[in-house]
Amino acid sequence: MPATSLDTIVSLCKRRGFVFPSSSVYGGLGSTWDYGPLGVELKNNVKRAWWRSVVHERDDMEGLDAAILMNRLVWKYSGHEATFSDPMTDCRACKTRPRADHVFAAQKGRDPKGLPEINAAIEAKELVCPKCGSKDLTPARPFNLMFKTSVGAVDSGDDSGLVYMRPETAQGIYVNFGNVLDTMRRKLPFGIAQVGKAFRNEITPGNFTFRTREFEQMEIEYFVRPGEDEAAHEAWIAERQNWYLNLGMRRENLRVREQEKHELAHYAKRCVDLEYRFPMGWSELEGIANRTDYDLKAHSRSPENPDAVGELKYFDQELKKHLVPYVIEPSAGADRATLAFLCDAYEDALVKEPPAEENTRLRELVESFAKSVGRREGMAADVKQRLVSAAESIAAGLPGTLPQLIGLMEDSEAAAIEVMKKVRGVGEKIAEEHTRTVLHLHPRLAPLTVAVFPLKRNDARLVELARGLKRDIQRSGVRAVYDDTGAIGKLYRRQDEIGTPWCITVDFQSLDDQTVTVRDRDTMQQERLKITDLGPTIAARLT
Ligand code: GAP
Repeated sequence: MPATSLDTIVSLCKRRGFVFPSSSVYGGLGSTWDYGPLGVELKNNVKRAWWRSVVHERDDMEGLDAAILMNRLVWKYSGHEATFSDPMTDCRACKTRPRADHVFAAQKGRDPKGLPEINAAIEAKELVCPKCGSKDLTPARPFNLMFKTSVGAVDSGDDSGLVYMRPETAQGIYVNFGNVLDTMRRKLPFGIAQVGKAFRNEITPGNFTFRTREFEQMEIEYFVRPGEDEAAHEAWIAERQNWYLNLGMRRENLRVREQEKHELAHYAKRCVDLEYRFPMGWSELEGIANRTDYDLKAHSRSPENPDAVGELKYFDQELKKHLVPYVIEPSAGADRATLAFLCDAYEDALVKEPPAEENTRLRELVESFAKSVGRREGMAADVKQRLVSAAESIAAGLPGTLPQLIGLMEDSEAAAIEVMKKVRGVGEKIAEEHTRTVLHLHPRLAPLTVAVFPLKRNDARLVELARGLKRDIQRSGVRAVYDDTGAIGKLYRRQDEIGTPWCITVDFQSLDDQTVTVRDRDTMQQERLKITDLGPTIAARLT
């Protein structure tokens, strides 16, 4: 079964070195994460696959890597200084500061149309503080999400050295539009792609790496003649969906959602979100906006912008006139895409039945857990109901529900119940021996492509051949590792759990005929291949 809770993914990520809580030796820093040895490989593969698809495989795109720190005026004229904000209200009773649009949406069952509507509801005492229930809320005010820092050695105490950590990579592309146009001799339509860090002082970060304050974006600004924008927009919506699907994302987990008028950013004429069905529900993966000529005009010298040094425009040879291109912007998150691919690839399955007495013992413990949760005081009613109904259905279905039990054992709210320790003591051992966790990642995304094992680690000839094989595969540009730290079955399980598509075993026959067994992660089938055929076979399967 696929991952039903984000906790399952968080636990796998921590256990197997994909993602760690940041600064953990000092107790961490809320909602910040570090990518570990396997996580950095996976995220790099996601970014590489994106770059290959939108830059290398197209004839109408260029790449860029602009600075994170830019002249403050970029953010003044882009509109971010004035409008890039979330509406916050203060509760005078309990001194918390919730997001007013979220309070409105939760209590009215729909999104607000803007600040005036939120404030009318606050004034009419129609909204209550989500923490303490008080109606004594201040009018909502916008809080800017941009992080500030200063440049220069001297802190002058005023705003003269103020710069922002960019909240989107897009502006770096706009202000380089003229440079790329001139140096690369481009004609419309063409686009510029960029991957890089962005920073937002999010009020409500959370859901693991889904919403953080520091994240990476993969953005395209695609410049077209005005009038050709709507067709280009449609083409990019199709193109970007296909990218996720071609990398193995399940069709039923990806959908397109048209943003409503009141959701649109200040620069957008239309925006379509690609949404993924994360364990916490359908959520935005990528936004594809029609930004019109808003940004290029905003950064061009005009009565409204006396600070710009010139105009960002294009001379159309065919039309024999200057024009300001329209822009289509497919804007994806590298962290969100990585998380979505992880969730999509995850599978837990029962591979063999445990002995009846072990199963009975486990069922009794899970039933006792359900009763203990039911009796618990001070637990939120929805959490209680979720845990009790999950535990009851797992207990009734064991051993077939062992994969679901793994999710429950990793649930942070379930861990607070004392009897869960006993469930884990018995359950983890049974799960380890009788279930299989697999990441069915596309081979181009998997952190490791090949793992090579010797059948016996104390046979020098097998070890030498296996190590040499690993080196040869690595030299051909394919990520490979050597491992001899356990029995072959255990090594297969470890590689399945991190999504390695192929495991190669060197055995005694290999010494005689220079063949090895290649085991496929998804089918678990083994085939015997000549060592000399390995390189071309793997390369063909990677495309
Ligand atoms: N230039 C347009 C722009 O920045 P956005 O919808 O705010 O649009 C684009 O962001 C993408 O960046 C989102 O679809 C998401 O994948 C990613 N993203 C935005 N905020 C994020 C956050 N706080 N944490 C992680 N990813 C984020």
